[in-house]
Amino acid sequence: MKIGIISDIHVDINQDYDVLKTLDHVAAQEGCDLVLIAGDIHNNAYQAIESVAALNQFGNIAYRYVPGNHDLWNDHIDLTSTDEIYQLFLQDPNCLCEKPLELTDWVIIGDVGWYDYSFGNHEKYTFADFEKMQMDGRTWQDKIKNCWTSDNLGRTSASLKALEETMARYPHKKKIVVTHMLPIQEFCVDETRLDAQKPDWSYFNAFLGSKQYEALYKKYEVAYAICGHVHYRKNVMKNNTQYLCRCLNYCTEWQGEKEIETQIRKAFDYIEI
Ligand SMILES: [Fe+2]
Repeated sequence: MKIGIISDIHVDINQDYDVLKTLDHVAAQEGCDLVLIAGDIHNNAYQAIESVAALNQFGNIAYRYVPGNHDLWNDHIDLTSTDEIYQLFLQDPNCLCEKPLELTDWVIIGDVGWYDYSFGNHEKYTFADFEKMQMDGRTWQDKIKNCWTSDNLGRTSASLKALEETMARYPHKKKIVVTHMLPIQEFCVDETRLDAQKPDWSYFNAFLGSKQYEALYKKYEVAYAICGHVHYRKNVMKNNTQYLCRCLNYCTEWQGEKEIETQIRKAFDYIEI
């Protein structure tokens, strides 16, 4: 079985390109049976759900996903509560959250994941600094658009608990885990990186994921860990787990040819089980 991997397809931000049709074309050419999307499909939950439904309607490839922080935002939707928005995803049959996908020898487990500031630089900043989610006049947008940010540590614990309970149910199956947030520090942004916007990544890495996922994946011998969020296209092998971060990104971030098929092929990866 061939499983395609991609994340952060941002259908609305990339609206000048036919992201869905091109993704299906690339996945079909690669011979995939299933494609996993690690979140940030759209800035509107209804549209995110519809986008994955449209992918499934193309034909023979099954598409499953976890929502990302953008999919949970409340500024483009008639709901303000993040819990209510999240409920929409729990009711969607294509969403992996609380609905592990059982295959013969394998199980695919999904969760949004969350952040507990463990990837931030704690020598430079205090817990109170991270709680503000604001630095140098920049605000991490979840602070404004996601109610879960009133308790980031609680949300991270809930996510870890949900994943662990699910993993414990499948002691004899090999595991693929999909989160939007980063499970390893290796996918964080280099703190010394200077780009045009100059965000201080020693601060903002705090909102990318949690170190606790790596420990959990090690305990349950996760074979493949898929994530997105950081807009990298990078794979890391660690503790016998293959970590994959395969983001399509915003079209404004594309390097080289600004052509959708080229960019999807650069972002896309697959695993064979
Ligand atoms: Fe994200």
